[in-house]
Amino acid sequence: MKFQKANCLKGEITVPGDKSISHRAVMFGALSEGKTEIINFLQGADCLSTIGCFRRLGIEIENENHIITIQGKGLDGLCAPSGVLDTGNSGTTTRLISGILSAQPFTSTLTGDASIQTRPMKRIIEPLSLMGVHIESLHHNGCAPLLIEGQPLKGIHYHSKVASAQVKSAILLAGLYADGETSVTEPTLSRNHSELMLRSFGADIKTDGNTATIIPRPRLTGQKINVPGDISSAAYFIAAGLLVPGSDILIRNVGINPTRAGILKVAKAMGGHICLLNENRDGEPTADLHITYSPLHGTVIEGEIIPTLIDELPIIAIMAAAAEGTTIIKDAAELKVKESNRIDVMVQNLSAMGCSVTATEDGMIIEGKTPGVPPLKGALIHTHADHRIAMSFAIAALIAQGETEIPDSGCVSISYPSFYSDLHSLSESI
Ligand code: S3P
Repeated sequence: MKFQKANCLKGEITVPGDKSISHRAVMFGALSEGKTEIINFLQGADCLSTIGCFRRLGIEIENENHIITIQGKGLDGLCAPSGVLDTGNSGTTTRLISGILSAQPFTSTLTGDASIQTRPMKRIIEPLSLMGVHIESLHHNGCAPLLIEGQPLKGIHYHSKVASAQVKSAILLAGLYADGETSVTEPTLSRNHSELMLRSFGADIKTDGNTATIIPRPRLTGQKINVPGDISSAAYFIAAGLLVPGSDILIRNVGINPTRAGILKVAKAMGGHICLLNENRDGEPTADLHITYSPLHGTVIEGEIIPTLIDELPIIAIMAAAAEGTTIIKDAAELKVKESNRIDVMVQNLSAMGCSVTATEDGMIIEGKTPGVPPLKGALIHTHADHRIAMSFAIAALIAQGETEIPDSGCVSISYPSFYSDLHSLSESI
């Protein structure tokens, strides 16, 4: 797909449902008794992989008229899968389901696409093995395919080296079945959707700072879940609104859970005008975001804020390239083990667009624009099949001089199938 510089973006959009929350609603619904209904479920390939896996585990799931209906069978209702579980491109599916499968009275094998087969699974193999499961990386490289021979599990108190909601959630889900309480302490707090949603299904979960503790064997009951818009998807339009001169965009019903909303703080620190309207703080907090064009300046992004914006760092790097001054991103080594090595891939593509950017061990140093000169030039973008890279550079193209080509643009369907039509709806000139 080819992109040109845009004049301005104006109008209103509603981004699709949150990816993390959509995955969890399916999983927790499957483990609950009775019916769970999910409204505004994200129909992206990743979340459909989660539905596919739970159908193979014997759970009836309907996906009709934008509503997902799950007939939950309780904690002990899963059946041995008939074949290999396919987790596609989804790290969340792979890691969270591993926690659940660890406690089942059957053996499962799971794997996903080429990217999933390079992503680190030792981070879950280690704690789940401590709980008593036999879990093996079949190619002995710490990655999927994984063979999981479920066992009765022991409760553990685990100190994770990484701030990862996927690791934390895998352990807490295994903890649902353990013989005593299980806790996870992380170096900095990662997204807390599992803790909030498990509690709403009836689980007994305590949180204290960076530690979450689960009491085993709760009775989980089916729920009605209304999934808020995904701030990670809204991020592209937040950036577009701030970067394209004359823009004025309203993004409706975006999840602003503080463990996810770091981009709002960074955008404000860079001089961005973002106004929160119609805030709703029941359960997962939401708001409408009003974005207006703002000249941006560089900043430093490091420490505790990193897990709250980890998926937004590619688009934040685009904002930094168009800002005045230098932006430094630190403490973000996790970027190297996402759907692609997002430090290398951002540096490669930003450099192709004429930005002066350096990769560091745990982030990037990005030199912003020269005043009076267009910040970027059009280029051929290599997405490495990473949805967030494709969307970030589609936005970069809107402020670049000349044409930008993104050959592998279809990979956005992992998290945001309607991304290009939503972008088009805000601009006649694209
Ligand atoms: C996710 C957690 C994050 C994030 C991913 C979704 C989740 O990964 O990058 O896109 O739903 O729990 P880590 O937990 O590995 O940081």
